[in-house]
Amino acid sequence: MSPPVTPAIPRERVVSGIRATGRMHLGNYLGAVRTFAEFSQRDVDCYFFVADLHTLTTLKDPALLRAQLPEIVLDYMAAGIDPARATVFAQSSVPETSELAWLLSSVTYVGELERIPNFKEREKHRVEGEPINVGLLNYPLLMAADILGPRAHWVPVGEDQYPHIELVRDIARRFNRKFAPGGAGFFPEPQPASKEPVRVPGLDGSGKMGKSQGNTLAMSDTDDERWAKLAPAVTDPARRTRTDPGTPERCGVYAIHQLVSTPDVVGEVAEGCRTAGISCIDCKMQLHHGIGALLQPIQLRRRELAGRTDLVRDVLADGAKHARKIVTETRDVVQDAVGIVRY
Ligand code: TRP
Ligand code: SF4
Repeated sequence: MSPPVTPAIPRERVVSGIRATGRMHLGNYLGAVRTFAEFSQRDVDCYFFVADLHTLTTLKDPALLRAQLPEIVLDYMAAGIDPARATVFAQSSVPETSELAWLLSSVTYVGELERIPNFKEREKHRVEGEPINVGLLNYPLLMAADILGPRAHWVPVGEDQYPHIELVRDIARRFNRKFAPGGAGFFPEPQPASKEPVRVPGLDGSGKMGKSQGNTLAMSDTDDERWAKLAPAVTDPARRTRTDPGTPERCGVYAIHQLVSTPDVVGEVAEGCRTAGISCIDCKMQLHHGIGALLQPIQLRRRELAGRTDLVRDVLADGAKHARKIVTETRDVVQDAVGIVRY
């Protein structure tokens, strides 16, 4: 048998995705997709997918998943991901990724999967009496394959995903050490792409803006719709009345300000909050304008793209072809390393 050939990685690679649990919301955008778009403008190879296989772990309605995925692809494009510069694809259209997940499962431990906070979290919130499906436990393993398949260096994700990335690094290191495929450094140890972890809090004062929590702002919200959600958003409880000073660091509205507003505005509202110089409604109004300015061009592009199923089909077909080629290279090297022969 010829020794495995390690395909060199010509440029740094970036991989990430979001699940298809609904249309993209502001939490997805600020936490992840905005960074995808930035990367897609840089001199790196980008792979951005819609994680339809991960969506199955909490699937409620197959029809919804089917309908949602193409919409998310258009959301990606409206958010500034150019499919001519980035590989955009559906996770499921690269079956080699699932295969790789199995190949990596022998260097992944049950305890590691159980310890992931997101798993423990989902376990807590599961429907009363419903057993935990294996997909939920294996979720991080498939994520490892998503990331290691293209042998990514960078993974732009929000703070809640950091424990996953840490595990992927462990799996990569372990596999490299145990099998040294084509030289010990076959898998780069992927890193979260931002130095400062991005956390997008929910409007209900909870830690995370998420579809399942129902505390999100939709990318498609009109000004009125957005204000209807923003106005009653939970703030620092210390500001019970207009004259009570607050601590911006204890307020989700402020955390979102830091992600969308100019440094001047952030400074002003922080000062106004601490000195009770402004009301929470003033502060929210400022944020409302900030988000409006951010969303305006995205919403405009999104409207132009509405209904372009033809375009989605082309993008996903091209993306699948390219992603499969890259992940197949990895799969082959890994098979060779563990003693699987392709007959
Ligand atoms: N778990 C991620 C989320 O919920 C989605 C995801 C799946 C992902 N596979 C990935 C993100 C690989 C980055 C890399 O947002
Ligand atoms: Fe939050 Fe702004 Fe109110 Fe301060 S003034 S508590 S930062 S909404």
